[in-house]
Amino acid sequence: MLLRDVEPADLDAYVRMRCDPVMMLELGGPQPRERIAAQLRRDLETVHEDSAWIKMIVAGNSAQVAGTVTLYPHEGISEIGWMVLPEFQGRGLAGEAVRQVLDLARADGRWGLIHAFPSTTNAASNAICRSAGFSLIGPEETTFAGRIFQTSHWVFGSSAHA
Ligand SMILES: CC(C)(COP(=O)(O)OP(=O)(O)OC[C@H]1O[C@@H](n2cnc3c(N)ncnc32)[C@H](O)[C@@H]1OP(=O)(O)O)[C@@H](O)C(=O)NCCC(=O)NCCS
Repeated sequence: MLLRDVEPADLDAYVRMRCDPVMMLELGGPQPRERIAAQLRRDLETVHEDSAWIKMIVAGNSAQVAGTVTLYPHEGISEIGWMVLPEFQGRGLAGEAVRQVLDLARADGRWGLIHAFPSTTNAASNAICRSAGFSLIGPEETTFAGRIFQTSHWVFGSSAHA
């Protein structure tokens, strides 16, 4: 598994991740197909400016995109999120990719505490937080894409894990 920055050729992977009702179940629902190209353009610009990290997970020796991990400033905090496409799930890819991004972030030094807000029902994402060394703050209502979600608030980089 390796990580690389998002590229213009990732449009198909974006569509498969963001327009899929199952993938987007706990992320505000599927996005309209016609908005995805503009989203990708914004993300490429963001990476070019180095104001957020948008990493694509590339599986094994193939060039196939398996998912994504993003680390971005949001309302005054650093927030991380992740997705892995269904055919690549259950192989440890998300956990490994998140740990790699956390290592890169720690080495980079600019991100401070890193927050994650998986839905309370998202067992795999809560397991990732636990095993990657996040500390659980507690349950929190989070507004995402205009909807309210019951989430678990996790934080990485507190003194216990620094
Ligand atoms: C959540 C998601 C990223 C998991 O990706 P994945 O590559 O299958 O995850 P991994 O194989 O790395 O497994 C991560 C951990 O979850 C556990 N896990 C995996 N599937 C699980 C399940 N259905 N129930 C409970 N635990 C599960 C694994 O055992 C592993 O635990 P560990 O870290 O203690 O070893 C993926 O299912 C996904 O993208 N879902 C849709 C989008 C989404 O929900 N994104 C997260 C928003 S915060």
